Amino acid sequence: MHPIHSLPKALIAVLLSATVLLVEPANAAGFKGKVIANGETPVVGAMVTFRFGAPFQERTIFSADDGSYQVDGLPAVTEYKIRVRRIGWQDVRITAMSPAEGDQVELDFTLERHTDAAKVAAQLPANHWYALLLEQIEDSRLNEQMMRQCTYCHQQGSAHTRVKRDAQEWEKVFSLMARMGGTIDVELRQILPAIFDRAYDPATAIPRLTEGWQEPGYMPPPNAEIRQAVIDEYELGSRSSMQHDMMMHPNGSAYSVDMANDVLYRLDPSIPGGGRTAYPIPKDGIPMGGEKASGAQVPNATAALGPHSLQTTANGDIWITLALGNKLTKFDIQTEEFVHFDLPDGIYPHTLRVDDEQRVWYTLSVSNHVGVFNTLTGKNVEIRVPARSFGEAVLLRLLPLIIEWGAMPDGSEGGNGDSLPVPYGIDIAPDGGVWFSQLNAHKIGHIDPQTHEVTMIDTPFSAPRRMRFDSKGVLWIPGFTSNLIATFDTKTREFRQIELPAELKGADTPYTLSIDPRNDDVWICGANSDSLIRYVQNTGEFTIFPLPTQVTYTRDIDFGADGSVWTSNSNAPAWQIETGIPRLIRLNVDGTGS
Ligand code: HEC
Repeated sequence: MHPIHSLPKALIAVLLSATVLLVEPANAAGFKGKVIANGETPVVGAMVTFRFGAPFQERTIFSADDGSYQVDGLPAVTEYKIRVRRIGWQDVRITAMSPAEGDQVELDFTLERHTDAAKVAAQLPANHWYALLLEQIEDSRLNEQMMRQCTYCHQQGSAHTRVKRDAQEWEKVFSLMARMGGTIDVELRQILPAIFDRAYDPATAIPRLTEGWQEPGYMPPPNAEIRQAVIDEYELGSRSSMQHDMMMHPNGSAYSVDMANDVLYRLDPSIPGGGRTAYPIPKDGIPMGGEKASGAQVPNATAALGPHSLQTTANGDIWITLALGNKLTKFDIQTEEFVHFDLPDGIYPHTLRVDDEQRVWYTLSVSNHVGVFNTLTGKNVEIRVPARSFGEAVLLRLLPLIIEWGAMPDGSEGGNGDSLPVPYGIDIAPDGGVWFSQLNAHKIGHIDPQTHEVTMIDTPFSAPRRMRFDSKGVLWIPGFTSNLIATFDTKTREFRQIELPAELKGADTPYTLSIDPRNDDVWICGANSDSLIRYVQNTGEFTIFPLPTQVTYTRDIDFGADGSVWTSNSNAPAWQIETGIPRLIRLNVDGTGS
């Protein structure tokens, strides 16, 4: 027998209907059973999550048409914490003993409908709530600014961000956000407290968010293809972490940088439970807050370097931008040592890509440069890219001073919501051309890799963020504040805009997109909707893969050699995440898991 123990008292009813018996041994340990309601009705598309190990891994699968679920390939550990969830129903949580090696435990779950609409509304991803707020900001410029400046560290519309506050408390929140970089115009700052109050007032918000919630059509289950998926979440870091970018290395491991604590992490998914190694990045005497230290950072963070993005060169070295430390660093995976390289001219090295000649191209988002560092020769060039006006060009040249003084000349705690152009995403075209975006200037630019000549092009949509070329040389760009992704043809210079699915309610913020190298599928971060979104080029179809943990801020996407899709839960602060713990996440669309 494999008895269930540590039963929460409230779940006795569930357990009365939970059958526990052993079936014939399969190849790997696992669980199977049914998720039902009202005695016999199957609950389709419930997420059944198995948590085990320390640091934990959580494997989630979906219940099928007949309510059945089956999960294999789990290790024999001491105990499993199991959660069953579907929006509209009360979560069921139990603790179960592990199946023995080769066994499968049979376990059924009975879900009960919520009886309180407020609890249903609380289960919805943040974008549902955020849509209510955005519709209240009528001025389209301020509306766009809200999305761009307030939705890039953490979700908006999540439980922590919709707490009612008085005007004074809001003033404190806005000042803190501005010191960290979330600056907004005085005008927006003045109208926001009343707008938060109105939009998130439970008396009006809950009835709207839960309209028809007792009908079967409310928040329908994910489709059959999505229900095949297996999602693994690996605990990584702490409540003070910010797992910024992540990448899959050819050695099969995932690497992620904790921007708030100057750590590079490795996770080896071939080790049951995911072997983790932390590599603290040497601070080299740089003070907390960084080279050009100013402003605040996430409370309890210890960042002097602020590792931001990472990519690998052909020899397996990992190159990382140290945004606060104003450096590039090279991590040798054999010796496990870092070597830092100073970047004297620019400020805030950001996203990077490696070209065929093993040069690292990187954006410098505060000082408006794009840099190129030749990893074979050590030669570095920082290319100043165009500003929007003469005044802005002067401001950008004064920036190092301004940052040392700790304030912008207008005394606005870092400027207004549009003050800097912000070079952001970058990628290399198949012909070697370098393309980057300027987030706040709503432009993309081309750099000739030989002459370093720069050409800028306005995007017909706002906030082009992290972009990627597909195998055919088409550039794909997410519009962070414009509810779309777009293609750009580098020959004809034409854009094609593709709106995100209506289910996202215009309140999602696609932070990054990545192209699956196997089939050119476009994967998009549903940063404000706890999701990864796939766009298939041939069919023009979007599929939204829901992720199990509330407040999953997806920021970066990469692919495993086995076709798995990887991301992280990068919400900063991490304690706004349900359970308060950041994770690396693997989505196996076809249901394979290891
Ligand atoms: C640079 C990152 C960043 C940006 C941009 C940002 N925030 Fe925050 N936000 C944080 C962090 C970190 C916290 C947690 C602060 C704390 O608990 O001390 C937070 C907390 C909050 C909270 C919850 C406060 C609480 O007491 O729990 C609200 C509300 C909020 N932010 C709103 C906003 C708004 C509105 C904007 C746009 C003006 C914004 N944020 C932009 C990082 C950011």
